[in-house]
Amino acid sequence: MFSSTQKLLEKAHKQKYAVGHFNINNMEILQGIVQAAENLKSPVILATSEGGINYAGINFLYELALTASELSSVPIALHLDHGQDRGIIKKAIRLGYSSVMIDASKDDFETNVRKTKQVVQWAHAKGVAVEAELGTIGGAEDLASSRKIIYANADEVQEFVQRTGCDFLAIGIGTSHGAYKFAGKPHLQFDILKQIRQRTKVPLVLHGASGVPLSLVQEAQKYGAHLKGVEGVPDAQIRKAISLGICKINTDTDLRLAFDVGIRKFLKGHPEDIDPRHILAPAREMIQKVVEQRLKLFGSAGKA
Ligand code: G3H
Ligand code: 13P
Ligand code: ZN
Repeated sequence: MFSSTQKLLEKAHKQKYAVGHFNINNMEILQGIVQAAENLKSPVILATSEGGINYAGINFLYELALTASELSSVPIALHLDHGQDRGIIKKAIRLGYSSVMIDASKDDFETNVRKTKQVVQWAHAKGVAVEAELGTIGGAEDLASSRKIIYANADEVQEFVQRTGCDFLAIGIGTSHGAYKFAGKPHLQFDILKQIRQRTKVPLVLHGASGVPLSLVQEAQKYGAHLKGVEGVPDAQIRKAISLGICKINTDTDLRLAFDVGIRKFLKGHPEDIDPRHILAPAREMIQKVVEQRLKLFGSAGKA
């Protein structure tokens, strides 16, 4: 059985730490994350994006996560990340995900309210919690283009939560997805976060939160990766965001980086070895290490 995302977040909210959300796309990524959570006695949220589901198949990812939660001694929740496809959202609810995200943040406010309300109705009927999103959490393409980044706004957040009944809320406060997060200096909109926190008690979620650690970037580069100009969210800003009320933090890019380093390094050192188990085991170990660092940063170690 999966743990309730809602309960994990309520405890984190009260005790002022954050629960880590980590994206899974295959067994090795999942095992690395869960081993880290076990080692640090930390709760963890496993998440599947629609891209991950299209790659691996929702049943495969669901069963892998379920097996992990049954074998594990720490609380594990399963979450649908950035749900946009009604079919996938409904399937995740039917299968028994702990929570689903409806991401209608690119729509206008009223459409976002309408779509979120609909998903809340479907999900709550099955005891599944819902994450929604307000404001822009962009990606590299948004930074490069002139698409306007719209921050979440405290008035809208309060109204949105009241009208939709969503259980937790992702807010755009200056982060973006991927390894290229900031055009200039990294800076989260902490004033907006403070205003939002004062206006609503809903657990708040930070997306696009990877740290893109320099040591990992340099290692990836050493073994051939091209990663010019990458930039993550500094640890100090993550700590500040948690102190101001963020209690769920999403990480995917750091896992990609860790996986990449594990594979590149192994292949460079063992060009004669073609055994996929030998190639993927170091990647799994790299994932474990990076997740341990994240869990310590989030303050969730020992909270299982
Ligand atoms: O939110 C973005 C996550 O990194 C998932 O990315 O849609 O490529 O799986 P993806
Ligand atoms: P990163 O790209 O910063 O890891 O963010 C992941 C995320 O927000 C998944 O929803
Ligand atoms: Zn995200």
